[in-house]
Amino acid sequence: MKKEDLKKKYNLKLQELEKHNRLYYQNSKPIISDSNYDRLKSEISELERKYKFLNSKNSPNINVGYKPSKTFEKYVHKIQMLSLSNAFNEQDLNNFEKKNFNFLNKKIKFEYSVEPKIDGISASLTYIDKKLTHGVSRGDGKVGEVITNNLKTINDIPHEIQADDFPQEIEIRGEVFIKKKDFFKIKEKFANPRNAASGSLRQKNPSETKKIPLNFIAYTFGYTSDEDFKFQSNFLKKLKKWGFKTSKHNKVFNSISELVKFHKNFEETRFDLDYDVDGLVYKVNDISLQTRLGFTSNAPRWAIAHKFSADSAKTKILNIEIQVGRTGALTPVAKVQPVNIGGVVVSNATLHNEDEIKRKDIRIGDIVNIERAGDVIPHVIGVEKNKRSKNSKTFEFPTNCPSCGYTTIKEYNKITKKYDAVRRCANDGFGCEKIAIEKIKHFISKEALNIDGFGKKVVEKFWELNLIKKPQDIFSLNYSKIAKMDGWGELSVKNLKNSIENSKKLSLQRFIYSIGIRHIGIENAKLISENLKNASHFLEIIKSKKFEKFLNIDGIGETQIKSLKNFFSNKLNTNIVIELNSILQINNEKINANGILKDKNFMFTGKLDGISRAEAKSLIDKNSGTTLSNINKNLDFLVIGDKPTMRKVEQAKSMGIKIISLKELKKLLD
Ligand code: IVH
Repeated sequence: MKKEDLKKKYNLKLQELEKHNRLYYQNSKPIISDSNYDRLKSEISELERKYKFLNSKNSPNINVGYKPSKTFEKYVHKIQMLSLSNAFNEQDLNNFEKKNFNFLNKKIKFEYSVEPKIDGISASLTYIDKKLTHGVSRGDGKVGEVITNNLKTINDIPHEIQADDFPQEIEIRGEVFIKKKDFFKIKEKFANPRNAASGSLRQKNPSETKKIPLNFIAYTFGYTSDEDFKFQSNFLKKLKKWGFKTSKHNKVFNSISELVKFHKNFEETRFDLDYDVDGLVYKVNDISLQTRLGFTSNAPRWAIAHKFSADSAKTKILNIEIQVGRTGALTPVAKVQPVNIGGVVVSNATLHNEDEIKRKDIRIGDIVNIERAGDVIPHVIGVEKNKRSKNSKTFEFPTNCPSCGYTTIKEYNKITKKYDAVRRCANDGFGCEKIAIEKIKHFISKEALNIDGFGKKVVEKFWELNLIKKPQDIFSLNYSKIAKMDGWGELSVKNLKNSIENSKKLSLQRFIYSIGIRHIGIENAKLISENLKNASHFLEIIKSKKFEKFLNIDGIGETQIKSLKNFFSNKLNTNIVIELNSILQINNEKINANGILKDKNFMFTGKLDGISRAEAKSLIDKNSGTTLSNINKNLDFLVIGDKPTMRKVEQAKSMGIKIISLKELKKLLD
């Protein structure tokens, strides 16, 4: 890459980091996960390392965070609150140790204090003459904010110390966090426990902070008038004696291999902890060695954070629930012990289908590894079979629909000669409660009726309250009842009424799609509506059940016909569509009914020169012609391109159908 481009790339990354710093430190509203934030930082560092000409005063290697906001009084930390360098594997840890050997010019047998890296917000507490005088946030590491009164609301923080050996002045540092079980009570408001802790700590009014139960675990010191601490592990014991909470998982180890082993075990059971931990912190235990090793510009040389995997975590399956989708598919979902994966709290994971459960032998009570990457729904990667209890039982997939009790089926695919992996409720339609709810959600969705202010949650609420049981109920809602409901006001009810009224006018294509019939998506709804031209034709076919007529439509095949037949074999479904037709104003397809190809039927075979099949079809359409997908007596023209299917050509010839080239078709149109 050219120097200029590299600079551009580097500056863009810095700008992005600046934006996220602002969102996090000033607004307390981060929009990316910690792991993605860390990744962005290391990408910048990597660029600086590779290309020495890249540097900036805004580099994260110079600046630790972001300037504190204006709401709180500022406080210059006597000793900077730095961050930690990250390690992701054994090699990173070996490098960390090797660098320290080099720095001290000696191979020392380091002893390490090992502490869980609680995923919260760091805070500093200054005690003078055993009294808490001020509590400060980290801010940008150099300047923090005075949040003493908010910190004082936390029960774990002593306001006064009794012990005789407490230093005359000392700054105790630690992590403020919220327990998982408390986070679950307020999970609608925050993406993860860390955001909840941050938001609560930065409330203007301490009584607001008090509403969210926060905790504090102490782990280090900043400025102190007493320089007599010899080992980090002893300091942690002292903290406990003085009345601070410390982690019960703190340990001391003597080698990198021991650290790696402990990390592996800890990562596997971290979901059992009451709070989020995103790694382990290893600190050289001997404080005199810490002093000699000192700091780089933004992190101590004597400590490192060994992070857990950012996109996967182990957890326990608490239950397996079967969800029923819009088209009757039964999807098993694992309800798991909540676990924070890369900043997102995961409590559900898809198990895909019955076969997947069988293949992986997934059972209730199993310890599983769950992956969450990007926007993909979290899923189970594998089961820790050796951790399974003796009385664990194979999961029995239900053979009847858990919603309506109807039989379920696995379809047989004639082409692959295999049964489908997905089991479905055979009661496809509004007769099954769960299917009906999903169909209504589909009915109001963007591509269907597109009713503003009527989301999936509203459907669920209205269903629960018996306001809607069928799609047509939407058009006779009890608005006075809704206006009295929580979260609804006069204005929102008026808006809802308007958008429902506006949604009544729609095209035939949207209407067909909105019914939510399996295999009739937007494209097929378009093909059918273009062929039928108006709603009354559609209704005729529904009533007479002559769906075979659609076989003429290029793109509609046996699968779609079978699905339509199945759906409309249910009287309830048919009646719903008939009733909807009488409520809605379905526009006929805008067509050039008197075009030059009026009443003429065409079919294509072979590759057309310079024009796609879709374009050719639309050309016929625009001129009022119809495209058929098979040869029958109604066909007028067979248009042949390169390498046509000879069987079709022969058949057309024998039936006296005109055979023309694309050129000839175009000539017709001229
Ligand atoms: S020591 C200079 N110990 O991790 C050493 N930090 O990325 C700095 N943290 O800002 C802190 N648990 O918020 C230390 N046992 C622990 C920790 C810990 C969590 C957080 C802390 C810090 C961040 C560094």
